[in-house]
Amino acid sequence: MLSQSDKKQAVAKKAVEYIEDDSYIGVGTGSTADCFIQELKTIKHRIQGAVASSENTLTQLKSLGIPIVPLDSVVELDLYIDGADEATRHRHLIKGGGGALTREKIVASASKKFICLIDDSKLVEKLGLFPLAVEVIPMARSMVAREIVKLGGSPNWRQGFITDNHNYILDVQNLNILEPALLESKLNQIAGVVSNGIFAYRPADQLLIGTDQGVEVI
Ligand code: A5P
Repeated sequence: MLSQSDKKQAVAKKAVEYIEDDSYIGVGTGSTADCFIQELKTIKHRIQGAVASSENTLTQLKSLGIPIVPLDSVVELDLYIDGADEATRHRHLIKGGGGALTREKIVASASKKFICLIDDSKLVEKLGLFPLAVEVIPMARSMVAREIVKLGGSPNWRQGFITDNHNYILDVQNLNILEPALLESKLNQIAGVVSNGIFAYRPADQLLIGTDQGVEVI
């Protein structure tokens, strides 16, 4: 039996095989993305540049001497690699456990291809057991929370946490996510919401899943 950490290492190693020479890549955030960053170190001379999806990832990339570029300087990224908190076989995701969802969604949207790295414990039939992160403008926190309650959700303020964009996070439970793209859009319509952790409009193009039998590709 492989540990969760072994599975993260395995998918991170596999992900490097998808990087083409002289490409621009986006780099995600979280413990799985951290494994990928370590692997990236070994092929850093082969890429033109990397765009970071958080301050944390930026710091790590810099410390390893991986060439960094701002997103504004690249029209389209070739590839985005990131983890997720939950994923379905339709490649819809919940992300944002680490609070970096907004920049992650921006970088994913700017990329031709998005490969998502998970271990098999994160593969679900239906999204929503993992609390859904919603990034909100601080002054709108209570108002957004009340609107989310009207949608059937139970929001919890992630106290003491400020995002890279200087906003708050509400972690929402009890949402019945039957149609991920519809809920993603509904939440984004609430004034004060910056973004939410459902990735359905821009799903992953490929899932690399770490299992005891090896890496499964969907
Ligand atoms: C960061 O905000 C998240 O979207 C992460 O990508 C996600 O939570 C996966 O993190 P782990 O790889 O640490 O499980």
